[in-house]
Formats: sequence, C-alpha cells, structure tokens
Amino acid sequence: MKIALIPGDGIGPEIIDAAVKVLNAVGRFEYETCCAGGAAIDRFGDPLPESELSRMKRCDAVLMGALGGPKWDSLPGNKRPEAGLLRLRKGLGVFANLRPVKIYEALKEASPLKTVDGVDFIIVRELIGGIYFGRRTEGDESACDTMEYSAQEVKRINEVACRLARARRKSVTSVDKANVLASSRLWRKQTEAFYAAHPDITLNHLYVDNAAMQLILNPKQFDVIVTENMFGDILSDEASVLTGSIGMLPSASVGHPGEIALYEPIHGSAPDIAGKGIANPIATILSAALMLRFSFEMEKEAAAVEAAVEAVLNKGVRTVDLGGGADALGTEAVTEAILKEIG
Ligand code: IPM
Ligand code: MG
Repeated sequence: MKIALIPGDGIGPEIIDAAVKVLNAVGRFEYETCCAGGAAIDRFGDPLPESELSRMKRCDAVLMGALGGPKWDSLPGNKRPEAGLLRLRKGLGVFANLRPVKIYEALKEASPLKTVDGVDFIIVRELIGGIYFGRRTEGDESACDTMEYSAQEVKRINEVACRLARARRKSVTSVDKANVLASSRLWRKQTEAFYAAHPDITLNHLYVDNAAMQLILNPKQFDVIVTENMFGDILSDEASVLTGSIGMLPSASVGHPGEIALYEPIHGSAPDIAGKGIANPIATILSAALMLRFSFEMEKEAAAVEAAVEAVLNKGVRTVDLGGGADALGTEAVTEAILKEIG
C-alpha cells in the first residue's frame, strides 16, 4: 500500500509527520512525498505540476496537510495554492467529500453551543462540480461565476450518501436553494428520483439558509447531509464549531469504490502558528484513520486510532485550540500520547 504525502504549507508538514507516525504504528506503508500548493509554486512555479499529479495517481491514496498562506495571496486566482487543490481534487476524480461531525464527550465544554450532546452526522459535499468549477469571467468592472450541475453528478453523489446512510441511521437530508436556483431545482428533482428507487432511506430537503440555522438549533436531527460544493464548504466550517475546534475535523474525498482517494483535515494551513509545534494534529490523524477504513479496508486499525484519540481527550490532553491554556500540549506531545494509547 503506497501513500502519497502532501505536507503542503504552514502547519502542513508538522501535522503530516504526526499522522505518519500514527500510520506506522498500525501498519506497514510505503510513502511517496509529493509537492503541491504554495510549496510547489516556490519550487516549480505551479501549484500542481502535472508530474506531481501523476506521481500521486500511481499511489493507492493521498494524505494531505494543508495548502496556502498569505505569501501567495497576491497571485491571480488561477495561480494560487487553492487552484492547485481544486485541480488535485478534479485530477483524482474525487467527487464526494465526506466530513464526519462527531462530538467527543470530553470536548463538550469546548463547544460554544449547548445543543451538541449526541451529535453524530456526516456531510457529503459534492467536490468537483458546481460554482467552484463553473465557467468564470473576471474583469475589473464585472465578474461572473457559474453554478452548473448535471443529473449524473447529482446521481453519483447520492450513491455515496446512500451507501453511508445505509450503514448509519438511514436518513438523508439534501440541502439546496431550490426556491431560487435552477441548479438546485435540478438537484432536488434528481435527488427525489434517486431515493424513490431507494425507499429504505428517509429523504428530507432543506434550503441552505434554514440548514445553517438548524445546524445550530438542533444538530442532532442530522444523519447524512448531502449538498453541492459551496454549500458544503460553508456548512462544514459551521458544523466544525459544534465539535469545539476546527482542529478536530477530518475529511475523505472519494470517487467510485476502489478508486484513489484523498484525505485531508478540513482546516487550513494556519500560517500564524506554523513552525511553532503547537498545531493540533488530531484532524489529520483522524483523516489517516478514514484512509485506513475507506482505502485499505483496515477497519480494526481505523477504529483503534479513533479510540486512541478519544482516550487521550478523555485523559484531558488538550492543544491550544482546544482550550489547553497553560497546560496545552504541542503537536509532538499529543501525537506521542496517541501512540502510547495505540500501544
Ligand atoms: C476546504 C477549503 C477549500 C475549499 C479551499 C482552501 C479552496 O476551504 O477544503 O473546505 O473551499 O474547498
Ligand atoms: Mg472550506
């Protein structure tokens, strides 16, 4: 099993180091270190050179830290580190971004909300279509982005959502803006047709503005949320607040079963704390656990990593972002604590 590693920018290299230590504690893997994002702009003048993408494609899975930072902010849109990330997702064909949102008992007090008890849902975000990839024009006087979806794109994301729902509480909430957007009306129609053929799943629809409110008011109602690219981007940052810190949320980006998948924390490269050794590695470690589960069918090992994370949180291990205060542990110390739990 060969894993492409993209340390990337900011805290990326530190959290990837942490995840590799954890992977090595539960299995034997080969690694191929690849370059993307700001690091690749500095080295190759391109946030995702074709040669790096093809090296990744020869691996079984990709584990990424984070891309971007203020250093590259003045570059034009299509030359920025983020453009490399979008090309990477598209190039790997990973159309479904899975973002599990689970509350840890020990972190309940880290959440600013009182409504988080028992929250356990997963956001399935369409990742390589919609407004992120639509036709775009950019001038000084006017600019335009286009949100476009095809029936086939809506169908394949629902196949992923449906598979996940079947292994969970069998409830899917589709989020759209069908009262305004034509692309959302197509989304809703195709989603209804899909679940009409999968009657074991309960389907609900929410407009995205209402969904944003429901996530705060009553997050327990959700099991699987399926939504288009930008809505999913926004709602998943919002959902991360429920867990107490965006430093906790992993993600898996997958295509069809058996194809290469991309794993990354949902947080960014946190340039303000880069190199200080204080970044929370948990989202990346949990992303590695998702890799074990989804790419390598190593459920036992995935569960062991997740249990180790939960155990250290129960013991009071906290990074700065989790409210660690004066006793906060750094990246390495948290990783060591997790390794010790794994045994
Ligand atoms: C995410 C990020 C990216 C996105 C950015 C960095 C392009 O916010 O993975 O959620 O918008 O998809
Ligand atoms: Mg985002």
